[in-house]
Amino acid sequence: MLPMIRALTGALLTVTLVAACGQADDAERLARLGLPTTGYMADVGQGAATYAAKCRECHGPAARGTDKGPPLVHGYYVPNHHADLAFYRAVKQGVVQHHWEFGDMPAQPDVTPERVADIIAYVRGLQQKQGFR
Ligand code: HEC
Repeated sequence: MLPMIRALTGALLTVTLVAACGQADDAERLARLGLPTTGYMADVGQGAATYAAKCRECHGPAARGTDKGPPLVHGYYVPNHHADLAFYRAVKQGVVQHHWEFGDMPAQPDVTPERVADIIAYVRGLQQKQGFR
């Protein structure tokens, strides 16, 4: 009986460890891609704060644009034209000028993927309030 219990416990431990490693791998892979951990719930208030600190200088108050960068409350940036992935990519890799004449957007290495998720929630809210969907 005892050896069987030992074997079973060993098997269970292995399964648990493998599952845990799988999760760690996924989290690492997501972070490398500049994406938040699975199931992360965005925080709009935090998004507004990070936006003010890291994006407002160019994209303007309430994402209405400045002379350094375009408005994000704009038909170009609604979800079916620029999906959330475009935000994660812009922050991780920067943006080569293509839609406007402001020059390139530099990558924002201080802004983690979770903070980008917060910013997306904030900007999507502004877009919806202005009738951009
Ligand atoms: C130094 C100025 C500057 C800062 C700071 C900046 N951006 Fe940008 N961003 C730009 C410019 C300029 C463009 C437009 C490039 C083009 O399409 O010509 C742009 C484009 C974008 C786009 C569109 C990307 C695409 O695929 O076309 C997104 C999304 C974006 N910015 C999000 C952000 C977020 C989020 C932050 C803050 C974390 C931020 N930006 C900070 C200048 C900036």
